[in-house]
Amino acid sequence: MLLVLPSPEAVARQAAGHIADLIRSRRARVLGLATGRTPLRVYELLSAELRAGRLSLAGVTTFNLDEYQGLGPDHPASFRSYMEQHLFRHSDIDPAHWHVPDGMNLDGDAVRSHYEGLIVAAGGIDLQLLGIGANGHIGFNEPLSAFDSRTRIVRLAPETREANSDEFSDGRTPERAITMGIGTILEAREILLLACGAAKGEALAAMIAGPLHPSCPASALRLHPQVTVLCDHEAAAGLS
Ligand code: F6R
Repeated sequence: MLLVLPSPEAVARQAAGHIADLIRSRRARVLGLATGRTPLRVYELLSAELRAGRLSLAGVTTFNLDEYQGLGPDHPASFRSYMEQHLFRHSDIDPAHWHVPDGMNLDGDAVRSHYEGLIVAAGGIDLQLLGIGANGHIGFNEPLSAFDSRTRIVRLAPETREANSDEFSDGRTPERAITMGIGTILEAREILLLACGAAKGEALAAMIAGPLHPSCPASALRLHPQVTVLCDHEAAAGLS
C-alpha cells in the first residue's frame, strides 16, 4: 500500500501512530528499527508518548538494521548511540532487549549467525521500519545486493558515505558497515517504509515502478505481501 501524505510531519505522525497502535494492541512485540534522518521525528513522537506514560516498551525487543564497522557502542556517530539518544533513554525497554549489530566484530560469519540467531530466538520481526537511500538502498544493502542476502559486512557506496558524512567530525564516514540482508528484511511479518523529500523521488519511483532488480534493492519489497509505504508529496513527485 502506498500512502502519499502532505508533509514529512504527516508521514512521521502516521508512522508513529501505527507503531504505537501495534505495540499497545500487542500485535508487535519485536520491532526492526532504522536510523538516519527520516525516522527522527517518529522517534521524537514515540518518546513523547513514552515519557507521558501513554506507551510502554516493556516486553518489546528491537533489532536495528545496521551499524558502521569499527565504531564502538559509545561512539557518538554509532547507530547504537543514535538509538539510545533518540528512543531508548526515553523508554522503559529492558536494555538486554534492544539490539544493534556489533560494529567491532570483524568476522562476517560470526556477525551473521549471532544477529540472525537472536532474531530467530525472539520469534522473528513483527514490524520492520525502513528508510530508503537516494540510490535505492534499504538497510545498507547497496545497489546490486542479492535479494536473498543475509546479515553481513558490506562496503558502503560512495554516495551513501557522502550522504552520511555530516555525522562525522572529520567528514569521513566509515567504509564498511554491518547490515541485515535483503533476505533478512523480507522475513519481517510487516514492513513500513518512509520516504520524504525530493532527493528520494527517483529511488521511490524505481522501487515501485522500475524493474524488480538488485540495481534498486528496495524493489525487492514488491516480493513482500505486507508493505506500507508512507511518503510526502515531494518524494512522490516521480510517480504518475
Ligand atoms: C538506516 C538505514 C538506511 C537509511 C537510508 C535513509 O538505519 O538503514 O537505509 O534508512 O540511508 O537515510 P535518511 O533517513 O537519513 O535519508
